[in-house]
Amino acid sequence: MRNIILVGFMGVGKSAVANFLKKNKNMTVMDTDHLIEEKEGCSIQEIFKEKGEPYFRSLETRLLEELCSHGLSNTVISCGGGMVLDPANVILMERLGVVVALTATPETIYQRVKNCKNRPILDKNMNVEYINNLLKKRKEFYEKASTIQIETDNKTIEKACEELFIALSHSTCPKER
Ligand code: S3P
Repeated sequence: MRNIILVGFMGVGKSAVANFLKKNKNMTVMDTDHLIEEKEGCSIQEIFKEKGEPYFRSLETRLLEELCSHGLSNTVISCGGGMVLDPANVILMERLGVVVALTATPETIYQRVKNCKNRPILDKNMNVEYINNLLKKRKEFYEKASTIQIETDNKTIEKACEELFIALSHSTCPKER
């Protein structure tokens, strides 16, 4: 199985899809936020608070570089929602595998993340309007970075994964190296 790199806004279902693939397709799961937290020995919120967002973004790039040197296979990498913003990360993700963007409407995202306290980007702005505006700014980054896009609104994880596998079977992944 090719490595699958999951990208997309917070709350689109990256972790849920990754866990489904782990259980049902026997893939290894890696989560960039979790790996960064392990390496730094503190939470994403603490990293944002103590060292700032640019530092966190540099950790994301460093992590992708490291993953590229690991020769991963049969692995799904769930990426933090801002990973696509740096073009250097996009190149690294393409090297790692097929990049799949999960999508959802701002309303769906809000419903999924409104009770979460672990997302510094939304800390002071947990509302549909803010999510909508940020999503508009990021939309083209998710689209450009990915070979496959899967909408996750009103869908079970099983259904989203079924669509993902159909799309994968049709994709030749010209970006993969
Ligand atoms: C971020 C998304 C988060 C995490 C960090 C920044 C973003 O990951 O990387 O809080 O900028 O969208 P999830 O998308 O897994 O919530």
